Amino acid sequence: MDVSVRPLMEGDLDTADRIYRMAFGTLLGLADPMTFGGDASYVRTRWFAHPIAAFAAEVDGKLVGSNFVTNWGSVGLFGPLTVHPDMWDKGVAKRLLEPTVALLEEWGIKHAGLFTSAHSPKHIGLYQKFGYWPRFLTAIMSKEVNRTVTTLKWSKYSEFAEDDRGECLDACRSLTNTVYPGLDLQWEIESVNKQGLGDTILIWNDDDSLDGLAVCHYGSASEAGSGVCHIKFGAARAGPNSGQTFDHLLDACEAFAKSKGISRLSAGVNVGRREAYRKMLTRGFRTYLQGVAMHKPDEPGYNQPDVYVIDDWR
Ligand SMILES: CC(C)(COP(=O)(O)OP(=O)(O)OC[C@H]1O[C@@H](n2cnc3c(N)ncnc32)[C@H](O)[C@@H]1OP(=O)(O)O)[C@@H](O)C(=O)NCCC(=O)NCCS
Repeated sequence: MDVSVRPLMEGDLDTADRIYRMAFGTLLGLADPMTFGGDASYVRTRWFAHPIAAFAAEVDGKLVGSNFVTNWGSVGLFGPLTVHPDMWDKGVAKRLLEPTVALLEEWGIKHAGLFTSAHSPKHIGLYQKFGYWPRFLTAIMSKEVNRTVTTLKWSKYSEFAEDDRGECLDACRSLTNTVYPGLDLQWEIESVNKQGLGDTILIWNDDDSLDGLAVCHYGSASEAGSGVCHIKFGAARAGPNSGQTFDHLLDACEAFAKSKGISRLSAGVNVGRREAYRKMLTRGFRTYLQGVAMHKPDEPGYNQPDVYVIDDWR
């Protein structure tokens, strides 16, 4: 079969979105596969985040699959990778992974990762061919929004004047650098702001330096979907007060969700981040989906016991 791979274009997005829903809906055995994901959007949000980092696979001039690549500075991720079920097991995903791996290399990514089905030998085997190794599980958790915090000092990226945003992004970069050298969420923060997908919550200490940040999606057409606020990435500054800052960050996210009239807060945590995972369980988060994080190289990266980070690499 002749599979060709090219950049994914804006005009492909409707078809790519349909294939994405059909692929996951079929994998999960849904009665109507197209209902997968509800009104949450991944294909559009990822494409508009960085249009040149998305790939399309075609057979006989027809789109049959896509994949998206994410740049977090020294950390790189990819997904969702989806292929139309009629085309499974014909080598389409492997073709899409070729430019994906090449782009991550071109960016000089130090630590690459992905989230996949822990129970699927095919998924693990596919990614292992490209140098990714399964490590700890990642739990995607949620809780009802019920806390309200009045004393905490937090702000939102959207409130910053255009001219002050560069300085704010520098503060975010210096914070994430304490978690993992070179980790940089600028792309994610700006994408959420530019596309109106949610906001970034910022926790400041008494010296007005940044101690915590959380990139949140909420509502339909975001990666959260209606009625949900999803913390796509959250981090507390590394150091002796990290655990306390993490608690403050979760309090602020819950208060933010409440202020938007949202009833559910969701967030992913790799269980290798033992302390963060424990704290989330203690706060009433319950796992509704779990997968495994695959890493390249086969090193922990920031999935370490005392690292207070929320993300799920989906
Ligand atoms: C997962 C998915 C993207 C794979 O796409 P695909 O085009 O069928 O995959 P490919 O045919 O390119 O490659 C599959 C590889 O896995 C290998 N594989 C299959 N079963 C395996 C097993 N039990 N152990 C090891 N490897 C296995 C195949 O042998 C093949 O490699 P090979 O051709 O070198 O032998 C596709 O099935 C899909 O869209 N699924 C639903 C959505 C999804 O789960 N996306 C991925 C989320 S992380």
